[in-house]
Amino acid sequence: MQTVRVELGKRSYDILIGFDMLEDIGPALAEHGLLSDNMAVLTSPTIGAHYYQQVRDSLERAGAAVVDRHDIPDGEDNKSLDEFCRAVRRLAQFAPNPAVRPTVLALGGGVVGDLGGFAAASFRRGVPYVQVPTTLLSAVDSSVGGKTAVNLPEGKNLCGAFYQPSLVYMDLATLDTLPGREVRSGVAEVIKYGAILDADLFQYLEESIEALIELDAEALTQVVPTCVELKAEVVGEDERENAGVRICLNFGHTIGHAIEKAAAGALSHGEAVAVGMVAAARLSVQLNLCDSDVEDRLSDMIERAGLPVTAPGLRLETVLDYLRHDKKFITGANRFILLEDIGAWTCREGVDMDAVRDITRSVLL
Ligand SMILES: NC(=O)c1ccc[n+]([C@@H]2O[C@H](COP(=O)([O-])OP(=O)(O)OC[C@H]3O[C@@H](n4cnc5c(N)ncnc54)[C@H](O)[C@@H]3O)[C@@H](O)[C@H]2O)c1
Ligand SMILES: [Zn+2]
Repeated sequence: MQTVRVELGKRSYDILIGFDMLEDIGPALAEHGLLSDNMAVLTSPTIGAHYYQQVRDSLERAGAAVVDRHDIPDGEDNKSLDEFCRAVRRLAQFAPNPAVRPTVLALGGGVVGDLGGFAAASFRRGVPYVQVPTTLLSAVDSSVGGKTAVNLPEGKNLCGAFYQPSLVYMDLATLDTLPGREVRSGVAEVIKYGAILDADLFQYLEESIEALIELDAEALTQVVPTCVELKAEVVGEDERENAGVRICLNFGHTIGHAIEKAAAGALSHGEAVAVGMVAAARLSVQLNLCDSDVEDRLSDMIERAGLPVTAPGLRLETVLDYLRHDKKFITGANRFILLEDIGAWTCREGVDMDAVRDITRSVLL
């Protein structure tokens, strides 16, 4: 098992990463002072069917008096205020004794993690929570960093809080049951970390991307802790995304988000971000920030990962409209995260809209 520490003063926490660890989660929580008499497991029907029993058995063996399970239905649509209300009310019914502070366990992907984290942040103005990510995306991205939220009809992640978990417990064996498309979606974020922050990781991916897609244990052991360390470092420097560094994680997400919205469900987040990364790399070349070799390496990697490098069939104007309404893009004055090299990001504001249009058109062909 590997341990990565997120250094945030009093809010610091450990991320434990390994294989076949679910059966030991009870003792691990006890060791970290997180085993409450009331353990509230938030999960989903699909994820719970695979992994809840192991978690429950281990918690009970370690001495938890009562373990509760509450399911958030699968799917992004359920990262909603309605489901948030159901979850916090369930917590209120499950843990009515003010003398017993429950610990919330978010067992699932980013949907369960984001909603579960927000429920833990809000219930009794904050109870401890543990992230137990079961998707590659949640392992390398959403379970670390303390951004919790639900979506509103008015927009994604509009209602939430920064609230750090007390522990992240990553059993990479749980990825075995994850559908291939979800694996590749997570791989897009892995490629992003290499592209912006770590040339060695990128080079490793150039050697081993196929093994990673197949969830080879050696590849996961190399890649996941590295990504988690990179994210932990960024979060440690810029917890609330106001010192600047955390915006680098937005690489590929500017045009990527607009493409994701325009595709209206036809593309997964990772697929849209993959196309967005190609666009950002191409823009970097056009602005003379790096040479075309950088773009070529990135798009080769994306293709080998089974992710798209273009999003044909979407209307250019629709994508640009979404981009023009993107809050981060507007408040950042046409801000883009770009590449100076593999592993070296930079930020540019005031990027010419004609150049953005040309590049966006080129990835829609
Ligand atoms: N908080 C952050 O910093 C942050 C960062 C990135 C993304 N996010 C959020 O994360 C969410 C996406 O997360 P995701 O990609 O993990 O999707 P997800 O949580 O929707 O999970 C994807 C699907 O896989 C299923 N699943 C999960 N684990 C499984 C397993 N081990 N075996 C079989 N099926 C499994 C789920 O039931 C679901 O149907 C979005 O809402 C996004 O906004 C948050
Ligand atoms: Zn993303």
